[in-house]
Amino acid sequence: MTIHNLDKTNSVLNHFIAEIRDREIQKDAMRFRRNIERIGEILSYELSQELGFKDYNVQTPLGEKKTQLVSDQLVLCSVLRAGLPLHQGILNYFDQIENAFISAYRLHSSDEEFEIKVEYLATPSLDNKILILADPMLATGSSLAAVYEVLKKMGHMKQLHIVAVIAAEKGIDFVSQYFPENTHLWVATVDQELNSKGYIVPGLGDAGDLAFGSKL
Ligand code: URA
Repeated sequence: MTIHNLDKTNSVLNHFIAEIRDREIQKDAMRFRRNIERIGEILSYELSQELGFKDYNVQTPLGEKKTQLVSDQLVLCSVLRAGLPLHQGILNYFDQIENAFISAYRLHSSDEEFEIKVEYLATPSLDNKILILADPMLATGSSLAAVYEVLKKMGHMKQLHIVAVIAAEKGIDFVSQYFPENTHLWVATVDQELNSKGYIVPGLGDAGDLAFGSKL
């Protein structure tokens, strides 16, 4: 797996990440969603550099210019519900992308033990396509593994790109072992710790609740 951690270089991305972490600023759910979307846009730009391109001639009013446009067929799959603002950010950059949605939630048997339940899937065929799997918080990696097991039955994908906003080192180690060798992982930033409940520390809290409100 190739890992791309965008916080290795200072950029305006740091501002968006700082705002989604900030316990005061994150009270503004609209700003939280918009910042995740902006991070998705930046990650998309970076990811686009790894895609296949083909020649294209643009006709301008004054002449012709040869360029290269993305040739791969892309499918974007987001893990509900926290993945939705990240999904929108990626969608803003890939006009022709097809869309898939999958649900995954933690079913707790105790405070510290849980299994991942996948109950909903809507997807086009993944045959010969590049799958971009978006999940804002890569904690243990177990939800990504659970959704991948379902998605890989939906066609023989050409390649997988995983996009996350904050990743825990433990989650990165897990996905590096779990996913095919040619997979790319794109993360805006990396945190060192996970707490006993599987939350990223310092992280930001519960991304789904911050974007859409708390749940029962
Ligand atoms: N999901 C979240 O929303 N936050 C975490 O820290 C881990 C998983």
